[in-house]
Amino acid sequence: MKKRVFSGIQPSGHLHLGNYLGSIRNWVRDLDSHDNIFCVVDQHAITVDYDPAVLRSNVRELVGLYLACGLEPDKCCLFVQSHIPEHTELAWLLTCVTPMGWLERMTQFKDKVGAKRERAGTGLFTYPTLMAADILLYRTHEVPVGNDQKQHVELTRDIAERFNRKFGEVFIVPEPVIAAVGARIMGLDDPTAKMSKSAPGDHHSIGLLDDLKKIRKTIMRAVTDSEQSIVFDPARAGLFNLLSIYQALTGQEQAEIETHFAGKGYGDLKKQVAEVVIAEIEPIQARYRELTADPTYIDGVLADSVDQLRPIVDATMDEVRRAMGHR
Ligand code: TYM
Repeated sequence: MKKRVFSGIQPSGHLHLGNYLGSIRNWVRDLDSHDNIFCVVDQHAITVDYDPAVLRSNVRELVGLYLACGLEPDKCCLFVQSHIPEHTELAWLLTCVTPMGWLERMTQFKDKVGAKRERAGTGLFTYPTLMAADILLYRTHEVPVGNDQKQHVELTRDIAERFNRKFGEVFIVPEPVIAAVGARIMGLDDPTAKMSKSAPGDHHSIGLLDDLKKIRKTIMRAVTDSEQSIVFDPARAGLFNLLSIYQALTGQEQAEIETHFAGKGYGDLKKQVAEVVIAEIEPIQARYRELTADPTYIDGVLADSVDQLRPIVDATMDEVRRAMGHR
């Protein structure tokens, strides 16, 4: 039996190269060897201030990009979280077995709210239990994510184990799967900050649907340092980030890349990084335009997936409700 994979992305902005290298690209690579479920997690995107019309459009854009990046609908289920209401039902049940202290340890919450903790929505605080529900609902074995989501998947494991101890072996305890290269792409304008959908700045991220000229410009302007040698040195964050992008997209070894760039300057490196990024993104943009020309196609894919997922959801929820004494 193939292992089941579940992962998701928030439609809280435009998909960027970090999301692609840290997640989608790895999902596409493993499509044939796994049983695959991918979600657009729109209920996570309402944990911060948002505009409903923008959310609606971001959801469609993200589904179109999932398909354009190579998530073929006959090899995976692609769906929108809010189309399966059991995500929020299970999230509530899991919230009731999750100690406050576990959520208080989540670094992403602390980073996101900063000093404005008192004003943050409760949903932002309990968000990791919704993420646990997403994963556990499908009896997932593996969760391929970028580095920043590892802590949430580990929390999911803790919640599953606690639930199973208390109520019986209902859940599979999932493993996080983090790629060796590309799991933490940094902002091009500030290589000390993770590339993010919500960061301000025109030249911070590389959007998968950005104009190709803009992508080239953003890479050529990327912040580096004033040294000369082109080597993988994590202490030289800007250079390390560019080299990691190059490594993730070419699949070459670090030593091979260092030899290739020996004696060359940052200008050359940036040009070549831009070439490999554009070579990857250009065909995705072309497929995106084709696929989204017919909006009914996307609706059909989403509806078929929900139909396929329904028996899994019903079976898990039946067991959970019985185990917890609701039936
Ligand atoms: P989100 O929407 O922030 O990010 C989607 C995926 O992209 C990865 N990622 C990155 N990888 C490399 N470099 C970066 N700069 C970078 N930024 C983001 C993330 O690690 C993630 O894999 N909570 C999740 C969404 C979610 C989910 C789930 C994921 C909800 N339920 C269940 C897996 C399983 C999130 O906010 O990801």
